[in-house]
Amino acid sequence: DDPRIKGIKSKIRVVPDFPKPGIMFQDITTLLLAPNAFKDTIDLFVERYKNKNISVVAGIEARGFIFGPPIALAIGAKFVPLRKPRKLPGEVMSEEYILEYGSDCLEMHIGAVEQGERALVVDDLIATGGTLCAAMKLLERAGAEVVECACLIELPDLKGRERLNGKPLYVLVESH
Ligand code: PRP
Ligand code: MG
Repeated sequence: DDPRIKGIKSKIRVVPDFPKPGIMFQDITTLLLAPNAFKDTIDLFVERYKNKNISVVAGIEARGFIFGPPIALAIGAKFVPLRKPRKLPGEVMSEEYILEYGSDCLEMHIGAVEQGERALVVDDLIATGGTLCAAMKLLERAGAEVVECACLIELPDLKGRERLNGKPLYVLVESH
């Protein structure tokens, strides 16, 4: 592992029983307070994705909006926000996904991504994988090729990776 990963992991605060009993919340706001570790995080992704002909970085609301844009700027790609419902003013395409209780939805502006573009999907964390799965479907419906999904944190016990239909997932930190 890259020596920077230890420092990144040490800045992620784990909050037991938030937002409800039994959940170990992975709080990345403490990483944002540590500029060196935050920069190492972005640099690790940039080192991996520069020179890969990626023209789109798609970030998932809300926490994917923190990590996606600096990566996009550094690799010379556009940034496309994948938003929660009814936030985008233009014409959208939508993908619903199932949560533990009920469902949620991601939306993307039609025309933000063109046929044949190479896309990277960015979020802070993969748990069950439902969110990343919906994000990939939106990009693929728009004709883009999803090159990889990138997250800071994976909760491997939830086996979200298995829901990605073989699409590569790159994570910096695993949390059990
Ligand atoms: C969290 C996290 C991921 C998603 C992962 O977001 O930031 O986006 O859950 O879960 P999954 O792999 O089981 O789909 P959340 O929807 O809680 O909201 P936020 O990013 O807006 O805070
Ligand atoms: Mg999220």
